[in-house]
Amino acid sequence: MPVIIRPERPEDIAAIRLVNDSAFGRPQEGDIVEALREKGGVILSLVAALHGRVVGHILYSPVSIQSGGRDISGAGLGPMAVLPEFQGQGIGSRLVEEGNNRLREAGTPFIVVLGHPKYYPRFGFVSAGRYGIRSEWDVPEGVFMVLICQPQKMRGVSGVARYREEFSGAV
Ligand SMILES: CC(C)(COP(=O)(O)OP(=O)(O)OC[C@H]1O[C@@H](n2cnc3c(N)ncnc32)[C@H](O)[C@@H]1OP(=O)(O)O)[C@@H](O)C(=O)NCCC(=O)NCCS
Repeated sequence: MPVIIRPERPEDIAAIRLVNDSAFGRPQEGDIVEALREKGGVILSLVAALHGRVVGHILYSPVSIQSGGRDISGAGLGPMAVLPEFQGQGIGSRLVEEGNNRLREAGTPFIVVLGHPKYYPRFGFVSAGRYGIRSEWDVPEGVFMVLICQPQKMRGVSGVARYREEFSGAV
């Protein structure tokens, strides 16, 4: 399937909204995407395009961990969404792989994700608790995961990983 993964463009905005609303079946995630975009809170936003149609979307926003007097800034993966009729065909995986690779190449120290513990480990995510990294929200053990991209920058780093305020109230 000729799916292309590429950065979002201004003309994709309505289609990205539709992808999020359809995949989640509610407006909250689409609202977060739009608030982050408006307020400059997007590190990376990629779409999956099939024959020119946007069928998937992934967004990364800044997440910070205060540890030992330092503020380490990484990325939070999500929301991500694939149109229901295109799910289960590997499009989500392509989005995660491409997004994570771009952030790794940009020197991002870590990526966190709040998501299904059966899905994200295939991309190298492990339970954040293993590194003493915690979610700011009260979530079950194992659903908050981290991918350490730059081990030397992450040595001794632990604590609460804070997303931007646009996420508040969403979980
Ligand atoms: C999660 C999502 C983006 C994955 O996209 P996709 O293109 O279906 O993903 P892939 O085809 O690469 O992978 C499919 C795998 O994801 C799993 N999966 C899909 N949605 C899942 C979910 N909500 N929870 C757990 N696992 C899920 C499938 O079981 C499948 O697992 P398998 O490979 O072991 O069979 C897509 O299913 C979606 O939009 N879901 C609704 C929105 C959502 O929950 N987003 C994630 C939270 S931010």
